[in-house]
Amino acid sequence: MADDEVTLTVNGREISAPKGQLVIAAAEQHGVFIPRFCYHPRMQPVGMCRMCIVDIDTGRGPALQPACMIEVAPDMKVDTESATTKKAQDGVLEFLLINHPLDCPVCDKGGECPLQDNAYAYGPGESRFVEEKRHYEKPIPVSDVVFLDRERCILCDRCTRFASEVAGDPLIHFLNRGSQTEVNTFPDDPFASYFSGNTVQICPVGALTAKPFRFKARPWDLEKVESTCTSCAVGCRVTIEASRNHVLRYQGVDIDPVNWGWLCDKGRFDFEAIESDERLTEPLIRKNGELIAASWAEAIGAAADAIKKADRDSVAVLGGARLTNEAAYAWAKLAKGVIGTDHVDAQLDDGLPGVVVAGLPQATIDDACAPNTTVLVVDANIKEELPVLFLRLRDAVVNRGVKIVELSAIDTGLASIAAVSLRHFPGEAHLAARALVAGGDAAAVLAGDLEQAKSLVAGPIVAIVGRSSLGEDASAVVEATALLLEAKSDTRVLPALRRANVRGAIDMGLAPGLLPGRVALDAGREWYRDRWGAVPEATGLEATGILTAAAEGRIDVLVLLGADPIRDFRDHDLAQRAVAGARTVVAVDTFLNASSERADVVLAAAGYAETDGTTTNVEGRVSVLEAKVTPPGTSRPDWMLAAELAFRMGADLGLESTDGIWREIEAHAPSHAGITAELLRAPAGADGVLVPLRAEVAQAAEGAPVQIAGIEGTEPDNAALAAAAEAADAEPADASTDDAGAGVVERAQAEAPTRPDTVVFSRGTPYDGPAIDAYSLRVVTQRKLYDLGTLLQHSPSLAALAPGSTLEAHPYDLDRLGVADGGRVKVVSPRSTITVEVKASGAISKGAAALVVNQSGPDPADLIDATQPVTDVRLENP
Ligand code: SF4
Ligand code: SF4
Ligand code: FES
Repeated sequence: MADDEVTLTVNGREISAPKGQLVIAAAEQHGVFIPRFCYHPRMQPVGMCRMCIVDIDTGRGPALQPACMIEVAPDMKVDTESATTKKAQDGVLEFLLINHPLDCPVCDKGGECPLQDNAYAYGPGESRFVEEKRHYEKPIPVSDVVFLDRERCILCDRCTRFASEVAGDPLIHFLNRGSQTEVNTFPDDPFASYFSGNTVQICPVGALTAKPFRFKARPWDLEKVESTCTSCAVGCRVTIEASRNHVLRYQGVDIDPVNWGWLCDKGRFDFEAIESDERLTEPLIRKNGELIAASWAEAIGAAADAIKKADRDSVAVLGGARLTNEAAYAWAKLAKGVIGTDHVDAQLDDGLPGVVVAGLPQATIDDACAPNTTVLVVDANIKEELPVLFLRLRDAVVNRGVKIVELSAIDTGLASIAAVSLRHFPGEAHLAARALVAGGDAAAVLAGDLEQAKSLVAGPIVAIVGRSSLGEDASAVVEATALLLEAKSDTRVLPALRRANVRGAIDMGLAPGLLPGRVALDAGREWYRDRWGAVPEATGLEATGILTAAAEGRIDVLVLLGADPIRDFRDHDLAQRAVAGARTVVAVDTFLNASSERADVVLAAAGYAETDGTTTNVEGRVSVLEAKVTPPGTSRPDWMLAAELAFRMGADLGLESTDGIWREIEAHAPSHAGITAELLRAPAGADGVLVPLRAEVAQAAEGAPVQIAGIEGTEPDNAALAAAAEAADAEPADASTDDAGAGVVERAQAEAPTRPDTVVFSRGTPYDGPAIDAYSLRVVTQRKLYDLGTLLQHSPSLAALAPGSTLEAHPYDLDRLGVADGGRVKVVSPRSTITVEVKASGAISKGAAALVVNQSGPDPADLIDATQPVTDVRLENP
């Protein structure tokens, strides 16, 4: 037995458990369930409810003790079935039920309620109490999405602990004393937390219920499948729960490497959009200036004809981060292998360039949260953009000794947990990074303790790099990343990309200069020509380049793949001119939006919970998506639309099912070798599988068809991957096969091209940001969790939560420029002028003007010229 294990006895059976483990957890791991209410494995124990009391003998004779508060000890004897234990459990339940109402027939929790279950299994069967129960006004809202029925509460302290310990939003408390104790919020202080829905899931009774689910279904009516949230790129594991073909609820699933069971409220409640009346149900074609319903044959035919007539260099595909990996691969194959264009970009110039992402030495969420790690966060607004990653980092800081050094232009949600927050001037993250790790000018750091930060980053670090301001291009952040990797070559990086499956889309080649499997276009040309038949000759344009070309009339067909550049691109004017300037716009989408309503052909796509496949999160973890309901009308999965378009163009993608596509990805994409569909659905793949495949996962995957011995640790090893893939490689030089296992011998004999290496991060051209004049402020545009995005605006419970647009600037600047705090101000850029409310805030660096994008009212995207590296504005009193 290992030194850190102890031996004890549970119900007469000897077990061993790690030192420090609680009795309740050790017993459960060995098949003995001790009933509980307040204990939750992801929170500190409190011993509030006494439901878990059992006989525990530590050498002084048995005594009733709460199993959630006692750690295992050598020779301890635990008896969960003794007569005294049973009498105590009986008594605890009888007391709890004194005041608990008999709401079970109408309570949301009825049927999945631990109080009901424990009362049946361990309770007295009848009560000696006949007195009137407590009554409260019911229900009362404690937040925009959560209701509270106080008389149902058993005071277990789970919701309150979650709010203060896990979310760091201590806004729900116990009030009053004794029998009057109740859980509640303070009158002017609602439970305004991005994570409030978790309290509904962990409440062991029906005291907290979710507005979007209340009275919608009984738990036994719900059928569920396990899937992955794609409302941002964290990739939280969820169950999709539906009744009679309607999605009614998502619940968090506890997987250790990602979300621990937690979800943010956006991810939890945006299921309402699936049912929206405004979903596209059939294809549309523009006739006489109007979009009207068309047959699929007509719509696909019109799109295919437009593409066939166009020069290959004048076709561009924008978007794709909403798609599954399989759909992204199908569209990459269509665009690059059939049409022959590399003007393809899944991002809207709001993340990091695809070739940069593909080449980063990848860190995982667990790497960042490992005990005593130093995490350097560069320009990533994690709480707003990747909320559950914020929860993981918060836990790492509070409980695991992790230190965060934050480099940003304005205060973000991380400031409350960062050991040091360094402020840099907007657009100058690289100068601050140079001051921090490469002996650069300390003046680049405007605020924060640079010396303390330097001492924290002196050892190994994990970097989280994002793009928190859309007022500037990616140059400064990419330069900062390059400086970090040069100064500290063992740094691993977690790219804080926000869009749903953006990581998967990049991996599948939906970025200029890339082919599926993190392969550069030039390096992979022979390999993919051999498999697809054709590959573009030159690197294409990224999003801003595509839109500029379209605005200048150089794009014949612009395909919008779930993208709405008019609302979502950081430069409104350019996006509008681009959509107007492209000769034909084909939109593949689930809703009509500002861009797709101007399209010439609209192809109705099936959405989340309606298609199966896989998705890839920010750390490169591939996990399975399950379909639960049928898509509305005749809408079709995105991959099928690519295959049908190819067919109408006289080509055959050879893609006939999501499993078949995954087989082809596994066989062709170098970074994905060995990650088979079987592995993803095996126990070893239940938490998702990191790309590239780790040796230990391959070994754990009993019966996995591909052997990848030779891949050491977490480093990609192209030679070993090539050898691994050789065994399961697909038929080459023929895009029409769906059978990834055939043709190995013949191909080897024909000396097929060798598997290309994956992209390695390269520095690019050193960058120096432009200067600013004394009368201007530099724009920082932030994204908020709640905005006017498609899913949110079609989810009634969330649609009103977008906070609106204001301008925040440092009081010193407002004073200097003669602008009054709280008034309205004209914001003038070379592009346009908007008028917004202005607020003074010390959280903003001097010289910066912070605005929120994609909110109601004037949009800062009107001010931005995406072809410029930064945006400077002047403030004028209206
Ligand atoms: Fe526990 Fe629910 Fe009461 Fe909160 S509301 S203390 S989670 S029973
Ligand atoms: Fe979904 Fe992201 Fe929220 Fe997780 S953090 S629940 S993936 S939106
Ligand atoms: Fe142990 Fe509540 S579960 S006291």
